This record gives sequence, C-alpha cells and structure tokens, in this order.
Amino acid sequence: MTDNNWTLGILGGSGLYDLDGLENPEWIEIDTPWGKPSDAILFAELEGVKLRFLPRHGRGHKLSPTSVNYRANIDALKRAGCTDILSLSAVGSLQEPYAPGDFVIVDQFIDRTFAREKSFFGPGMVAHVSVADPVCDRLARLAGNAAIAAGAHVHRGGTYLAMEGPQFSTRAESELYRGWRCDVIGMTNMPEAKLAREAELPYATVAMVTDFDCWHPGHENVDVFAVIATLTKNAEIAKGTVREIIKIIAQTPRTPSPAGIETNLDAALITAPD
Ligand code: ADE
Repeated sequence: MTDNNWTLGILGGSGLYDLDGLENPEWIEIDTPWGKPSDAILFAELEGVKLRFLPRHGRGHKLSPTSVNYRANIDALKRAGCTDILSLSAVGSLQEPYAPGDFVIVDQFIDRTFAREKSFFGPGMVAHVSVADPVCDRLARLAGNAAIAAGAHVHRGGTYLAMEGPQFSTRAESELYRGWRCDVIGMTNMPEAKLAREAELPYATVAMVTDFDCWHPGHENVDVFAVIATLTKNAEIAKGTVREIIKIIAQTPRTPSPAGIETNLDAALITAPD
C-alpha cells in the first residue's frame, strides 16, 4: 500500500468508527499535560491514509459538552500525528433553509460558551492567534465534496452559534441568535476550533442538522429523541462522508496549508523570551 502524507483526525460520535476495511485498528491511550482526552484514540489506516478517531463525548457518550476536555482532545490528536482535524457533530437549525437531515460545512462561529478552558496559553506565555477565518478552507472544500458524494444535501457555509448547554436554548435565546444571522446551533465546536488553530492544525467541521431548535412554529421544540432519530437516519451518510473524504485525500498529496495555519503561531506569540 502506498503511504500518504495526510494524517486525518476525526472528532465525532462513536458510530463513525466502524468503517469497513479499516486496517491495523488499535485503540491507544494518549495522556497530555492538559489531562485526559475524552477516550483512547483509534489509530487505523484506510486507502493509505492514516486516521485517528476520537469520540468527542467518549465511547458510550459519558461526557457533557461542558465536561469534554477540549485542550486534551486537540493536544492528543496533535501528539497522535494528525495533520488536519475533521469534526462531525449534531446541530439545531436557526434558519428555514437549513432543514433537519442537511449537512452544513460551517465557515464561521459565534462563541457563547463560558465554562471551558479555551487556550493552551496563559500566564507565562501569552499568544493571540487570529481566528478571523476559523475554518481551513481547503479541508472544508474537501469535506463538502465528500458529503455530496455520500449523498448529503450540503450547505457550503454557515455560521455556528456555540452555546454552553447542556440545556437547549430558551425561545428568546433562539430568536436572539436568529437575529444575529446565525444558521446553526451546537454545543461542542467551540473551543475546539480555536484550540486547533492554536495547535496549528487545520480544522473543518461538518454540522449535521437534527432539528429546528425551538423557534419554528411548524415544528416541535427540540428534544434528545429528535436529535437521535435524525442522527440515526443519517448515520450512513455521515459514515459515507468520512469514507469519501478519505478517498479524496488518498488521491491528493498533502501540501502545507495555503492559509499558513501550520505556522500561525509565528505571528501570535507576544511574550518576550527570558
Ligand atoms: N445539537 C443538536 N440540536 C441542537 C440544538 N437545537 N441546540 C444545541 N445543540 C444541538
């Protein structure tokens, strides 16, 4: 088998990982200075591409969005050799055209989380990375192509409102975010995207719409049953998206990020050396 210079990290739900044909699968525990990641990481290969799967909430969905150790997850993926991170997650829709069952290749975020560690930097070593464009455009394009090839109805672009949870939004909050022109709402992609940028890892996210939150007069307020029912219905398309992006990158030798993501700390560190 030819080797390939991508090592793709995949952060998402546990159903994604039983892809047919995974070679040399092995769950490996990785510890980090930030503590334990959500779970062991599944190392495997497919089509010559190295894959590193990390179940965001742990196998068996044991961690709430607030309890996920986002720093450990991103650092563990970096230590596992990832060159890029693809995130998959469930979201609610805040706008009519984004219907349950659709896949959104998010390109912007509004971060309303408040109870999470959001930076690898702090006292002693300060850095301010740019997250003006928080998503890797190259990876996002490939993810969109993959989702289409897997049969998804895809929106290329969309603003993701990251909320703390674990409760869903009040109707007033939902209306507020709609007024801010947010398209989808979820509980996990921040601070993931910010930390990936600090770790100089290109990051893109496939948001799978499961519900209309609580603003839509023609739809029930979101509950967990609705989220799980839509995710279950779309499980094969989600797995297909992962398989298709692997097929695509297997044919595309990796070059450094055109946006300079792997070197963005060069312009971000502000602490003078001792
Ligand atoms: N995940 C799936 N649906 C959601 C919603 N409506 N709000 C927040 N997170 C979600």
